[in-house]
Amino acid sequence: MRAEPTPENRALVTDLAGVALRNPVLLAAGTCGTLDEFGEVLDLSRIGGVVSKSITPEAREGNPWPRILDAGDRVSGMLNAIGLANPGVDAFVHDYLPSAVLMPCAVICSAAGFSVDDYVRVVGALAEAEDRDRAAARGVHGLHVPAAIELNVSCPNVRTGTEFGHAPETMAELMRAVRPAAGRTKLFVKLSPLTPDVVGVARAAAEAGADGLTIANTVAAMAIDVRTRKPRLANVTGGLSGPAVHPLAVRLVHAVHTKLARDFHGKGKHLPIVGVGGVSHWEDAAEFVLAGASAVQMGTALYADPRSPLRVIKGLRKWCEAQGVMNMSELVGAVRV
Ligand SMILES: Cc1cc2nc3c(=O)[nH]c(=O)nc-3n(C[C@H](O)[C@H](O)[C@H](O)COP(=O)(O)O)c2cc1C
Repeated sequence: MRAEPTPENRALVTDLAGVALRNPVLLAAGTCGTLDEFGEVLDLSRIGGVVSKSITPEAREGNPWPRILDAGDRVSGMLNAIGLANPGVDAFVHDYLPSAVLMPCAVICSAAGFSVDDYVRVVGALAEAEDRDRAAARGVHGLHVPAAIELNVSCPNVRTGTEFGHAPETMAELMRAVRPAAGRTKLFVKLSPLTPDVVGVARAAAEAGADGLTIANTVAAMAIDVRTRKPRLANVTGGLSGPAVHPLAVRLVHAVHTKLARDFHGKGKHLPIVGVGGVSHWEDAAEFVLAGASAVQMGTALYADPRSPLRVIKGLRKWCEAQGVMNMSELVGAVRV
């Protein structure tokens, strides 16, 4: 069973649409292995949770190499075009998910696909695993496994990867199909920073049954080797992540929180936002919180320092103390504009 949080740790205890987190710092999809591998380099009992690699119906090898690179000295970030390499949902449920029950943090599974049916199949298989787990043993820490499913409708590195999250109509259609397949499992939708009407898409997802939003995925980008005149990624384009995208993601979180999450809150539905993009210091996470995020995810920063989440958690704890709040939730959306 989970140990009672000490008073100083209580400041970071987070409720994400009913998913209990010991603190609001999670590892972002695709940046920490398929599921539990990061436990080899970071004590997972000290973070809030892990998001799995995005899982598709069939196994995928992903795009050709090179498919990941440092964006260079002049840009603070990373470019990747992994292309959703993953074992496929059946192998994931069979070979990976059982170990999630032993993971000492919340486990969120990311689902992706190329059609509505693909998403329904993956979400259905993951939710079924959760149902079985609910009936038998829960995770050692009393959490359901998976604690939630995050729909990736925002991958810029595969054909149609951003299609469903591009417009309110396609978003609503997908959510309406996927919601019943998810059963009682919480559903988060991970949005693209390139969506023209991000507030409209977020509203469509929420009205069709999303329990929360993750903002945002990588920004479609390109890098060229000027000596060979060739693109630096075999896929030609990739997704930019890291510090370079942080202010962009903060603005989106703020826009969605101001225009949408507060409306839902007023109607008695809590629509939490998870901020993602360039968190490497606690101040980046705190900025997301003030903009309206209830939790954050970290990805690119893990490549420079796999233990960076611990520094972020420590900094957030001190920040809450300095701001005189009992719990960080009091600071969500508290930017003084
Ligand atoms: C190598 C790599 C692989 C990624 N794979 C996925 C993925 O499978 N699914 C997904 O939703 N996002 C994926 N992302 C996006 C991250 O989860 C995150 O949204 C993005 O990197 C921004 O956060 P960061 O700046 O902290 O890295 C990936 C990012 C990187 C760098």
